[in-house]
Amino acid sequence: MGAGIAQVAAQSGHNVVLVDVNQDQLAKAKAGIEKILARLVEKGTIASTEEVLSRMTFSSNMEDFKGSGLIIEAIVEKLEVKHAVFTAMEAVVDENCILASNTSSLSIASIGSALKKSDRIIGIHFFNPAPLMPLVEIIPSVQTSETVLKTAKEIIDSWKKVTVVCKDTPGFIVNRVARPFYGEALRIYEEGMADFATIDWALTELAGFRMGPFTLMDYIGNDINYTVTETVFAAFYYDPRFKPSFTQKRHMEAGFLGRKSGRGFYDYAEGAIMPEPTKDPVLGQKIVDRVLAMLINEAYDALYLNIGTKEAIDLAMTKGVNYPKGLLAWSEEIGLKKVYNQLQELFEEYGEDRYRPNVLLKRLAK
Ligand SMILES: NC(=O)c1ccc[n+]([C@@H]2O[C@H](COP(=O)([O-])OP(=O)(O)OC[C@H]3O[C@@H](n4cnc5c(N)ncnc54)[C@H](O)[C@@H]3O)[C@@H](O)[C@H]2O)c1
Repeated sequence: MGAGIAQVAAQSGHNVVLVDVNQDQLAKAKAGIEKILARLVEKGTIASTEEVLSRMTFSSNMEDFKGSGLIIEAIVEKLEVKHAVFTAMEAVVDENCILASNTSSLSIASIGSALKKSDRIIGIHFFNPAPLMPLVEIIPSVQTSETVLKTAKEIIDSWKKVTVVCKDTPGFIVNRVARPFYGEALRIYEEGMADFATIDWALTELAGFRMGPFTLMDYIGNDINYTVTETVFAAFYYDPRFKPSFTQKRHMEAGFLGRKSGRGFYDYAEGAIMPEPTKDPVLGQKIVDRVLAMLINEAYDALYLNIGTKEAIDLAMTKGVNYPKGLLAWSEEIGLKKVYNQLQELFEEYGEDRYRPNVLLKRLAK
């Protein structure tokens, strides 16, 4: 991920030092960037590879960060390793250097606690692959100064990215609001309401999502997707809304990780036949209504708790995970009363907290 971020920065005109402890990873990053830049030259997007590469230094020595104005850390997701690296980075740079993390699941406050001057910490969270995905979540923590927030946002905006500012809470906006896309689809499958192919068909063909949840989970990898769900679940003090699924856990345990292992919810072996969906429009609509109501509920929860503004929450889902519409705008199109009633019916029928309608949605619907 770091290589992609470095490429974006260099293409935007910055001098970039890409540091990794692992020489093989550095060589891989350099070769990968060269290949991508060559393709961009062919397409006419950039004039020459040399022009961009001349601004990049590949190094395994953090001393080379000297003189930097911004460092974006994208190393292993382990707090103790990040702490050691942030301490070492702070010793090299001057006091105006912004120190940012690309973490997906750790709190920015906890990372910043390693710093002497902790008001320079901020989350700058890219989506993979960084050169292609437009969204960047900017996450000030309780320590972050206004100037650091303003400067970091201005820099990333100048890289022609779509930035949204969000609170330092688990999953930020995208990885929090998107949970029901997987969780509710898995639940629908577990109840025997529909199979993987039918759920994927309903959400792509009837709702307009680019990929169905099972195809997407196979793409992301069941190990990665399951771990994110489990992390978010624990981070929210085991709120039942985020409860992970045994179906996904068993797939992960069996090594059915998705495309990368040749089998996930679907079989990707050569010659394997993809299962056909049951194209029943009534069943399809039921699936869409339920998943969408759960997603919208999560978007309202994020809005209610000021995780981001209405605009930020809708932009995050369209630009970070390619949803066909922002969920809040979508809810207005469907009708807030209708969405609220759907959730209330589910809540009454199941008696489970996961279906409780968000209070802001309830107030607005009323
Ligand atoms: N992969 C994604 O889709 C994605 C998306 C958004 C955010 N992130 C976040 O980005 C970070 C990196 O994720 P990734 O998937 O690129 O991981 P990765 O394991 O592919 O890469 C991590 C790199 O960090 C290097 N590294 C490890 N310890 C180091 C140290 N002490 N000093 C310097 N380099 C060190 C490793 O050699 C490796 O090249 C994580 O915090 C992750 O949460 C990842």
